[in-house]
Amino acid sequence: MRLQIYRNPFRIDDWRNREAVLVSRVAGRHQPLSSKSASRMGKALETYRREFLQKFSGIGALAASAGIFRGDGGSTLSPNSPPARNQTLAQLDSLREQFPALGERVNGHPLVYLDSAASTQRPRAVLDALTSFYLHDNANPAKSLHTLARRSATQYEKARGAVARFLNARGPEEIVWTRGTTEAINLVASSWGGRNLGPGDEIILTVSEHYSSLVPWQLAAKRAAARVRILDVEDDGRLRLDQLHTLLSERTQSVPHFSVDVQELGCDFLAFSGHKMLGPMGIGVLCARREILDHMPPYQAGSNMAHDVEIEPAPTHFAEGGLKFEAGAPNVPGAVGLAAAVEFLESLDRKALWKREQDLTRYALSRLREVKGLRILGPTESKDRISVFSFVMENGRTLEVVKALDAMGIAVRGGDLAGLPLLKRMGVTEAVRASCYAYTTAQEVDLLVAALQEERHGLS
Ligand SMILES: Cc1ncc(COP(=O)(O)O)c(C=O)c1O
Repeated sequence: MRLQIYRNPFRIDDWRNREAVLVSRVAGRHQPLSSKSASRMGKALETYRREFLQKFSGIGALAASAGIFRGDGGSTLSPNSPPARNQTLAQLDSLREQFPALGERVNGHPLVYLDSAASTQRPRAVLDALTSFYLHDNANPAKSLHTLARRSATQYEKARGAVARFLNARGPEEIVWTRGTTEAINLVASSWGGRNLGPGDEIILTVSEHYSSLVPWQLAAKRAAARVRILDVEDDGRLRLDQLHTLLSERTQSVPHFSVDVQELGCDFLAFSGHKMLGPMGIGVLCARREILDHMPPYQAGSNMAHDVEIEPAPTHFAEGGLKFEAGAPNVPGAVGLAAAVEFLESLDRKALWKREQDLTRYALSRLREVKGLRILGPTESKDRISVFSFVMENGRTLEVVKALDAMGIAVRGGDLAGLPLLKRMGVTEAVRASCYAYTTAQEVDLLVAALQEERHGLS
């Protein structure tokens, strides 16, 4: 058996006849589908999945999009000149007003927040949902106990329904609450991997995996005496599709960027983190096909996931669907806050967001290219790329750059970016990363570029 592991979305099936397989068996326990049996619908699905994943095959595309209210056609930033202050920007201003943290001043400067790939800021709607839960409904949820417990249970399940709708899952029972992407992948690697992986099986990953995908599968392979095989990337970071006739991506951050339909995508598993898409920290989602979840053993054990528990024998009767994987008192406010983030995103025109993100990406790439001594990692063209920019300065300084930018109120990330193998493939061991989201403006990109130029002068 060989597994191909990618994150968000990933899939268990036969890689010889499928594109964009994440977890794929090629020999052994599953019979491959014959190409003749590929239906027209199957082909449409493959085309959709290919297009979906193509968007994420560019290195450095970690998270981003640019925000716009429903009905707006999107801005048209020309590559080299910042956009005029038009209707779109006025709307962007009012979008930004909904994010209180964007009004912070840092080191005497207005905050320029370019670290959204690591964690986005939260709109007031999400903060209000969290506060309201704690003010009015806070209790350990229970459907048939006291009023607050019932309210909490209702909110928790309503939130699960909101996420299922958002992803077009077949039902709320396909949604498992986790702490985030990392826990979701660990859950699959431990539970599904523990049951299904065996000696000689192969797990195919890309060199561009984030640690949250690489390490759980490395450890799962070790436990099962399976083998990890690595798909390389091009010099500009795009996946080596010629090496494998599946088009795959490591990105976990599709969900923050544009609409994802798990049924249309045909994936078996999809993971995302709330805090990367306006939601609270410490909550995330694993969306999995019900029939696969039903064949996975529990991942953690405790209250709420087991029924009829006696001293002996150990329980065998577990909660249905995602609940089987949610031991202990749940993170209800996390789920409620995430549902509020989902509703906030649903109130925006996501097609327009994506269009604006492409414009912003094009503009930022052209501006970053102006900085002498700056090397952009990954594709330098905007095609199939999102608005996340990893780069190195000619003398290899990373932390100094992060600190110098911070002194000017500009928040970026630097270090190994939880992707050392990919950085090494690019010939470096650390990088700076500026990442945008719905509220990022072209003016903020200008401030970054000006600061980088100034910092370069200061040190030269
Ligand atoms: C590309 C990518 N994948 C996965 C993760 C893991 O997400 P989390 O830390 O929320 O579990 C991150 C977080 O930085 C990420 O950037």
